[in-house]
Amino acid sequence: MGILNLLLFTAAIAVNAQQAALTEDSRCGCYLLKGNDTTYFSKHRFFDFRNHDHHATVPPVIAEVKDTPNAPVTSPFFNSTDWTDFWMISNWNNSHGTRQDSSLLMVNSPNNVYLEANPSPTNPSPKSWLSLRTQRLPEFQTAAEIESLSAKFKFVSLRMLARTIGAQGAITAMFTYRHSEEYSQVQESDLEIRTSDPKNLIHCTNQPSLNSSGDVEARASKNATMPDGLEWSDWAVHRLDWTPGRTTWYVDEVEVARIEFQTPREVSNVILNAWSDGGEWTGDMEVGGSAYLQVQWFEILYNTTEKLEEERQGREEGEGVCHSVCSVDGTPEVGRPVMLWSNGVGRGLGVFGGWVPVVMVTVLFLLA
Ligand SMILES: *[C@@H]1O[C@H](CO)[C@@H](O)[C@H](O)[C@H]1NC(C)=O
Ligand SMILES: *[C@@H]1O[C@H](CO)[C@@H](O)[C@H](O)[C@H]1NC(C)=O
Ligand SMILES: *[C@@H]1O[C@H](CO)[C@@H](O)[C@H](O)[C@H]1NC(C)=O
Ligand SMILES: *[C@@H]1O[C@H](CO)[C@@H](O)[C@H](O)[C@H]1NC(C)=O
Ligand SMILES: *[C@@H]1O[C@H](CO)[C@@H](O)[C@H](O)[C@H]1NC(C)=O
Ligand SMILES: *[C@@H]1O[C@H](CO)[C@@H](O)[C@H](O)[C@H]1NC(C)=O
Repeated sequence: MGILNLLLFTAAIAVNAQQAALTEDSRCGCYLLKGNDTTYFSKHRFFDFRNHDHHATVPPVIAEVKDTPNAPVTSPFFNSTDWTDFWMISNWNNSHGTRQDSSLLMVNSPNNVYLEANPSPTNPSPKSWLSLRTQRLPEFQTAAEIESLSAKFKFVSLRMLARTIGAQGAITAMFTYRHSEEYSQVQESDLEIRTSDPKNLIHCTNQPSLNSSGDVEARASKNATMPDGLEWSDWAVHRLDWTPGRTTWYVDEVEVARIEFQTPREVSNVILNAWSDGGEWTGDMEVGGSAYLQVQWFEILYNTTEKLEEERQGREEGEGVCHSVCSVDGTPEVGRPVMLWSNGVGRGLGVFGGWVPVVMVTVLFLLA
């Protein structure tokens, strides 16, 4: 399947070289991933934080516990429907103790979610980014989290151009989450960065990471290495594909981990955060320290439609399930899809039909 998909993708790009033009989401019936998996997604959203310098402000940290959770949003941007129709900013705290190793009160605050202007005069691009901040105060840890309004994502490809900076003792993360009161029933695919770790190490996990005896379940996690000498404090595109039966992690398009064990199965939320609870996993940040997840853009493809087989059958019946197939991979403009093929145009590209073998031979020939 992997090879077939790769060929299919390559063939589609090759055949439609002239037509693989930028298009709009409204013209896309579904999206095909470039990767070692044949998954079509039905929806796409792109959140661009790079040109919001006019909205940017770094709010001072709120030092009082009582004022922390209910702080106002830091910019009108977070009141706009572009934001509010997808995201919620968390204000929960951990006083009900969900994590056993936690040793510190942690309180999430909208005050720690803000647009920040790029302060560098020498390297002024991008103009701004989204920052999620966590800081250690004498009495507690103030933290940041944004969570999808919908808890009904079933399969996603998440991508963010992001970096993590700051003091040791924090975690920054991008993940899918399905809550359960019972730890063993939680479904979750995680990308986590621990600021205490070596700067080339990132953690990829299909939770729960501990088995029912409380021991580390080795099959659930992988310590992945950032490719090409990159560090997590460098800007890089972190990607997590939760597809049926497996989760795959990429950094700058290089696959860094793949886990089939405990792949989530049911509808879930999507979450980004920066936090610490003084526990063994996050580490204990020094008082006054702070760490940040900074995001230039975030992109999500979500909800699978039919897999290749159904797509193929649909086409044989003359009724392609996706009338037009797009991709956000290999686009000349990040965030905007390109059209791979659509009914009528490139219709001969029914997976096994017609002239595709010719194309494949050509592609193989060119690759050889
Ligand atoms: C694609 O996935 C299969 C397992 O499903 C694996 O054996 C193969 O090596 C992968 N190919 C690439 C190019 O990653
Ligand atoms: C956001 O909306 C709330 C509720 O309407 C309002 O109180 C607040 O002032 C707004 N904040 C900004 C920064 O626009
Ligand atoms: C933590 O949240 C609970 C409700 O979720 C609230 O009752 C409690 O006051 C909060 N504690 C702090 C310290 O903010
Ligand atoms: C994804 O698909 C499921 C099942 O069809 C649906 O219930 C859910 O609302 C969809 N999710 C989103 C975020 O649209
Ligand atoms: C949990 O993992 C440990 C270490 O691998 C193992 O000894 C133990 O039997 C496991 N417990 C269960 C319930 O699978
Ligand atoms: C993964 O990295 C952590 C440090 O973050 C380390 O404690 C652990 O031993 C590593 N696990 C493996 C299997 O290398």
